[in-house]
Amino acid sequence: MTEPTPIADQVDDAGTAVARGQLRFLTCGSVDDGKSTLIGRLLLDSRRVFDDHLAALARDSRRWGTTGDDIDLALLLDGLEAEREQGITIDVAHRFFATPRRSFVVMDAPGHEQYTRNMATAASTADLAVLLIDARKGLLDQTRRHAAICALFRVRHVVLAVNKMDLVDWSEPVFAGIAQAFRDFAAPFGFAGIAAVPLSARFGDNVVRPSTAAAWYGGPTLLDLLETADVESDAVAAPFRLPVQWVARPNADFRGLAGTVASGRVTPGDTVVVQPGGRRARLARIVTADGDREVATAGDAVTLVLADEVDVARGDLLAAADRPATVGDQMAAHLLWMGEQPLLPGRSYLMRLGTRWIGATVTQIKHRIDVRTLAPLAARRLLLNEIAVCNLSTAAPVAFDPYADNRTTGAFVLVDRETNDTVAAGMIDFGLRRADNLHPERLAVDKAARAAQKRQRPCVLWFTGLSGAGKSTIARLVERRLHAEGLHTYMLDGDNVRFGLNRDLGFTDADRVENIRRVGEVAKLMVDAGLIVLCALISPFRAERRLVRDLVEPGEFVEIFVDAPLDVCMARDPKGLYAKARAGTIKNFTGFDSPYEPPEAPDLRLDTATETAEALAERVVGWVRR
Ligand code: ADX
Repeated sequence: MTEPTPIADQVDDAGTAVARGQLRFLTCGSVDDGKSTLIGRLLLDSRRVFDDHLAALARDSRRWGTTGDDIDLALLLDGLEAEREQGITIDVAHRFFATPRRSFVVMDAPGHEQYTRNMATAASTADLAVLLIDARKGLLDQTRRHAAICALFRVRHVVLAVNKMDLVDWSEPVFAGIAQAFRDFAAPFGFAGIAAVPLSARFGDNVVRPSTAAAWYGGPTLLDLLETADVESDAVAAPFRLPVQWVARPNADFRGLAGTVASGRVTPGDTVVVQPGGRRARLARIVTADGDREVATAGDAVTLVLADEVDVARGDLLAAADRPATVGDQMAAHLLWMGEQPLLPGRSYLMRLGTRWIGATVTQIKHRIDVRTLAPLAARRLLLNEIAVCNLSTAAPVAFDPYADNRTTGAFVLVDRETNDTVAAGMIDFGLRRADNLHPERLAVDKAARAAQKRQRPCVLWFTGLSGAGKSTIARLVERRLHAEGLHTYMLDGDNVRFGLNRDLGFTDADRVENIRRVGEVAKLMVDAGLIVLCALISPFRAERRLVRDLVEPGEFVEIFVDAPLDVCMARDPKGLYAKARAGTIKNFTGFDSPYEPPEAPDLRLDTATETAEALAERVVGWVRR
C-alpha cells in the first residue's frame, strides 16, 4: 500500500524526479469492472513481470485466486493481504512499467465514493485517465463521477476501456453505444482527447495484443493509446517556476537554491524574481549531481545559484521575472474536503502550497459541486469527499498561479494543526483582488504610545474552561483589582458578546469558531489601544485559542485554564444549563454533546475545585504585575 501522494508533489514514490517522456496515468473503475485484472494484464503482457514475482504469483493464485489454476492477474498488483482478503483495492497504489517507447506510472485508486479523496489525489498528478467500463453494464454513475473528478483536477486525456467485451459477444453496437453516451456526457468537461477501446482484460484482447475476436475494430490497443497519447507536457511550455525546497550553504562562498522545476525552463543569464518578496536576480549557474547544466526544465531537480545576493528562504518561489506568479493573501479555490470532521470556516489550518507552509482559513463556502455533473449546489457545510468552491485567506501574502495554468503552483493541501491530518486538497481558481486596493494606514499614535500613556503593558488574559468552571467569576475579580490599581482594562465575556457583536451565532462547532475569531479580532484592537483585555469564553478548541495567540504579538496572549472537573461544574450549575442539557432541552452543550479540548501548556492553570476564586484571582493579578 502506498500513502496518497500529496497533491503538490513533484516527486514520485521512488523519490526520483519525474522523467520526461513518462506517462502518469490513473485507472478508474471498480473491482467488478475488472480493473485489477486489466492492470495486471498490462504489466504481464508488456513483459515487465519479473520471473520470481511470477513464481510467487503462481503459488498465491492457488491460495487466493478466483480463476482456478490460471494465474489471477488481479493478484499481480500488490502484496497487501487485507486487500486480497476483502477482494477490493483500498488505496492509491503506484506501479511502474516501461515499454521500448515509453515509461509509465500507473496510479490505481479505489472506485467507491468514500475513496474520492484517494482518486482525486492521484488525478492531480495524472496526464491521462483510463476509465474502465463493464460492457454489460454500460455507463454508470460511478463512471460519471470519476470523469467529473478527472475533469476538475485537469486530467487532459481520457481513455474509455470498455471491458468484458467477450461477455457481450464482442457486439459492435454495444461498444459504440457506450462510447457515444460517454462522449455526449463528457462534452462540457473539456477533455483534450477521448478515445475508446473494446477489450477483454481477462483474455488480453486489445490490451497489449490486438484482438482477433472483433473484426470490426481496427483501432489501437490500450497500450498503443498509452504509448502514443500526446501529453507533451503543458508544464514545459508554462512560465518558469521553482518552489525552493531548501537553501544549501555548504560554505561561505556557495549558496544554492535547491528544488524541482515545476514548470518552464531556465538557463544561466535569465532574470528570476523571488516571490512573494519581489526581489530580482540573475541566474548564474544550474548545478546538479552530474555537474553544471545549461538549461533546466519542468521535472528537473536542480540547485540554482544566483548572481546577485538577495534573500531567499525555503518556501519562496523562483519565477520568470517577465511572467511572475500572482502574489496575494486571498484566493478563490476548489476544495476537496478530506477530513473526517467537517470543514470549519474561520478555523486556521496549515496550508502547504509548493514548498511553503502557512496558516490559512476558509473565509466562505460559495457553493458545493455535484461530483457527477459539476453543477453547483447550495451549501453551508463541507463534509468528507465533498467538493466546493471557497474563498480562502492566508496569514501572509503567498505566490501562486491558477491551477488551470499550473498544476503545481496552483495546488495546495490543508493540514489540521492538531491532528496533522491532511484535510483538504485545493485548486486555486484565481487570486481575489479585493485586498489590492486596501493599504494599511500608519496611525499617528501607535500601540507603544498608547501603552506608555497608560503606564502598562497591554495583553490578553484569556480565560478558557467549561461552563460553570468559574471563568467569569475570576475574571471579574481580576478586573476589579487591576482597575483599583489604576490599570486600564476591558472585559469581553462570552455571554455578553452574544447579546451584540455575536448575536447571530449559536453553539455549533462552526459558530463557536466564528465566535472566538471575532472576539480575538476585537481583543487585538483593544491591545492595540493599549488595554489589558480580559476574555472569558469557553473557547473549547485548541485551534482557535491558538489563532488568537497568533493574532497578537509574542507574550501578549496569556492562556489561563480555569480548570474544574465536569462533575463539579455540573453540581454548581449556576445557570441551570447542565440540568437542561441532561434533560435534553439544549443541544451541543460543552462537556455533554460538544467537546472541550483542555489547553496542553497553559500559561496559568487555576484549579477552582480546590482553591477560592479570590486566591486564584490574586495569582492572575500577581502574574500581570510581573
Ligand atoms: S464558546 O464555546 O463559543 O466559547 P461562549 O463562552 O461564547 O462559548 O458562551 C458560553 C455561554 O453560553 C455559557 O456560559 C452558557 O451560559 C451559554 N450557553 C448556552 N448554550 C450553550 C451550549 N450549548 N454550550 C455551551 N454554553 C452554552
